[in-house]
Amino acid sequence: MRIAFFNTKGGTGKTTLAFNVAKDLNMFLITNDGSTLENIYHNKVKIVKELEVYDDSKVNIVYDLGNYLFSDVTKVLEYSHIVVIPTTLDPDAITKTIRTVQKIESYCGKIIIVVNRTESQTKSKSHYIKSIAQLKELGKELFMLRKSELMPNSMFQGETILEQISTNPLTKRSATNFVMEYQNILYSIQKGT
Ligand SMILES: Nc1ncnc2c1ncn2[C@@H]1O[C@H](COP(=O)(O)OP(=O)(O)OP(=O)(O)O)[C@@H](O)[C@H]1O
Ligand SMILES: [Mg+2]
Repeated sequence: MRIAFFNTKGGTGKTTLAFNVAKDLNMFLITNDGSTLENIYHNKVKIVKELEVYDDSKVNIVYDLGNYLFSDVTKVLEYSHIVVIPTTLDPDAITKTIRTVQKIESYCGKIIIVVNRTESQTKSKSHYIKSIAQLKELGKELFMLRKSELMPNSMFQGETILEQISTNPLTKRSATNFVMEYQNILYSIQKGT
């Protein structure tokens, strides 16, 4: 099973989500973002400057495809069972996300888009509604993931979202909606692989 997290737009949550999904699904993680991952995911993370596809169906790999050349990621995207494209709702992210999907959809399998760091107070705003409508036109499954401290915390502590709520019942109560959204994404990924 191979899952790729990709968007040509930076800072959309690729690495954080890739780490959470990899650890929650007990998969290896391939990335070139070595900074913290090396410390928090020890022997299950491989930091590589040049990508290669592991065409072994017994090895389950999550690829965090930030900061690689586009020419290098193509093959990995092609060989992935599912490509997750996290985005935010700022105009530049929306434009780049649309371009990214259009560029890769002809040779990718299942693509899902995660609208990350959403905030409930912006949901009624016209720019939000317009951006969501633009993304929907791409015809891909769309998931929302609201803003939560559990995301940066996962990288600081090396504990996934699900691990954080299982060790702290208070966290679980205050982050119910966020956790539900994350679990929906996880479920869709598992279903598609
Ligand atoms: N849902 C969220 N709630 C709060 N903070 C978030 C959320 N998602 C991501 N972040 C924060 O946004 C920042 C960027 O996330 P991350 O590094 O995972 O993005 P990236 O796409 O890997 O960036 P790059 O393109 O630079 O590799 C991090 O500080 C992360 O903790
Ligand atoms: Mg990254």
